[in-house]
Amino acid sequence: MKDPIFQRVSVRKFTDAPVTDEQVERLLRAAMAAPSATNQQPWEFYVVRDPEKLMELSRCHEYSMCVKNATLALVPCYRKEARHPEYLHLDLSAATENILLEAVQMGLGGTWLGIAPVPDRMAKMREILDLPEGLEAFAIVPLGQPERDKPRQDRYDPSRVHTL
Ligand SMILES: Cc1cc2nc3c(=O)[nH]c(=O)nc-3n(C[C@H](O)[C@H](O)[C@H](O)COP(=O)(O)O)c2cc1C
Repeated sequence: MKDPIFQRVSVRKFTDAPVTDEQVERLLRAAMAAPSATNQQPWEFYVVRDPEKLMELSRCHEYSMCVKNATLALVPCYRKEARHPEYLHLDLSAATENILLEAVQMGLGGTWLGIAPVPDRMAKMREILDLPEGLEAFAIVPLGQPERDKPRQDRYDPSRVHTL
C-alpha cells in the first residue's frame, strides 16, 4: 500500500496513457473532500483536455511549460464572493494538495503550478479559460501517468522542530 504523502513528488513528464473521466471524477471528489473555512467550499474546477488549451496553459508563465506534456490539466478556481475571503487561498491549497495525493494513490502524477496570488498570472488565466467575473484561477495541475519513477527526498529536519 503506497503512502501518498511520502510517495508524492512533482511530475512534469508523462506517458501517453489516458486518464479516464472516472479517474478525473475521483480526483475532483478528493479535491472537494478538503477542509475549508467554515466549510465554505469556495471552489470550482476546470478540466482541460483540449491540446490547444493545454498548449496555451503551458505558455501562461515561465514555469508552466510542463503542461504541454500532460494528458490533462485541472485548474482549481475560487469564487471571489465568499463568507471568509481571507481564507480563499488556504481553502484552495488544501483542495489542490488533495488532488496531488489522490493522484499518487491512482498511479498518476502531477505538479502544483502557482497562479494566485500573482496578478499577471491570474489575468492570463482569465483570458485563456474565459473565466466569468466572479471566478479566479488558483493553480494549474497538469496530470498523467508519470514517465519515470522519480527519487523522493527525505526532508525531515529535527532542527525545525521546537518542543515546549
Ligand atoms: C505554491 C506552489 C507553486 C508552485 N509553482 C510551480 C511552478 O510554477 N512550476 C513548477 O514547475 N513547479 C511549481 N511548484 C512545484 C514545486 O517546485 C515543488 O513542489 C518543489 O520543488 C518541491 O518538489 P516536490 O513537489 O517534488 O517535492 C509549485 C509548488 C507550490 C506549492
